Amino acid sequence: MEPLNSLKNRFISIRRSADGAFARQDYSSAMDSYASSADVLDEIYNRETSAKEKQEYLLIAKELQARYDECKRNLGLKVELHVGEPPKRSTPKKAPKETKQNRPIIETEEDDIQYEFEIGGDTINVRSFLGDSSDLKDVYFDDVVGMAKQKRIATKEFFASDAQRAFREKLKAKPKNFILLYGLPGTGKTYFAIALSNELKRFHGDTVPFISIIGSTLKSGTPGLMEKNIKAVFEYAKQFERCVLFLDEFDSIAMSRQKNTGDPTDRAAVTTLIQLLGGFCSNPNLLVLAATNTPYDIDGAILSRASLKFEVPLPSSQVLEGVLEKGLGEICDASVDLGEVAKTLEEKHYSNRDCAHLIELAKDLLDDAHENDGSVESLNGKLLEEAIASFHPSYVASEAEKLAEFSKSNE
Ligand SMILES: Nc1ncnc2c1ncn2[C@@H]1O[C@H](COP(=O)(O)OP(=O)(O)OP(=O)(O)O)[C@@H](O)[C@H]1O
Ligand SMILES: [Mg+2]
Repeated sequence: MEPLNSLKNRFISIRRSADGAFARQDYSSAMDSYASSADVLDEIYNRETSAKEKQEYLLIAKELQARYDECKRNLGLKVELHVGEPPKRSTPKKAPKETKQNRPIIETEEDDIQYEFEIGGDTINVRSFLGDSSDLKDVYFDDVVGMAKQKRIATKEFFASDAQRAFREKLKAKPKNFILLYGLPGTGKTYFAIALSNELKRFHGDTVPFISIIGSTLKSGTPGLMEKNIKAVFEYAKQFERCVLFLDEFDSIAMSRQKNTGDPTDRAAVTTLIQLLGGFCSNPNLLVLAATNTPYDIDGAILSRASLKFEVPLPSSQVLEGVLEKGLGEICDASVDLGEVAKTLEEKHYSNRDCAHLIELAKDLLDDAHENDGSVESLNGKLLEEAIASFHPSYVASEAEKLAEFSKSNE
């Protein structure tokens, strides 16, 4: 069982990242982090802490809830308030203890799974998330609008014919199995990673576990624990004949050693990560997908080892039109020109996530309008305009500029 102190440190670190995301106006990722810190808080609360401490945790839970709800409001989502007790969670699933002979497929039924790793006699808990929602398990390349170039490269690399693969082996061509996905929040990095992983499952007959780890959950205030956690993750993933190791928020474990002068244990962890990546990726059947909003923070030695760097840009108006068409096509008035709407969203720098949230907001408005007047059955231009006017996209110009600079120097 994870020591209480380390749990507390983990809670502090997750919350810090939530506050950071909140400040950057990435409300969705702040919401994810608040939800996961509520989880950790729940665990702390349920351990043997004093009545006074429990009281304090209740106050923190209340504050977390308020921030979570504020994010929801900012995203135009309906708010339900449950204040008082830390939210109750279902018992986390444990990954089955498998042997090399008996490899299980990791269940990804829930969007929040806790894996337990055993390494050197210690048990290490790593919380894992599957992106924004559990329905992502059904996402394939066809669902990913745009990203044609990235899909083409990935298809050539991972879905080659036997003959082509044999030819590559003859050439001793290095496998391109460490992919860095970078881009602004909500542009579709996790979405693409899940689609690629599902395509691999389909291609290889459902034997490719998707191990999804959020970098910041491996961090710890206890010296040396982050390094140990990173090792545990790689040890675990290595056991499978094939697997996709998805390292989200990669910057939090791969921070440049030059920038990260504060904490020597973090620097040691990066050095270890470099070695582990090298070993892991020498097996062409193992794939590392790493995702980040801030590639410019990543250590140069790690960046230079990435076999492919995929920029996941803000969607063009064509892509946005496709997403709108999928989400609203069937419920829109014939008078609504989704192409024009998409152009407006592009000008406002909408991400795909923003667009997905706008779609839900528009549905809510239509639902309300229908409740008031039963004859309103489809989404008209006025309702859509209302939704756009009340929604604030997550775009932050300074972040976009830094990414553009990175992208230019890494073309
Ligand atoms: N190419 C796409 N086509 C259709 N929908 C998309 C696409 N990309 C993203 N979306 C929608 O946007 C949502 C957010 O995308 P995702 O979580 O992958 O963003 P992200 O880049 O991983 O963000 P973050 O940096 O905050 O982790 C998805 O759940 C999906 O609904
Ligand atoms: Mg993501």
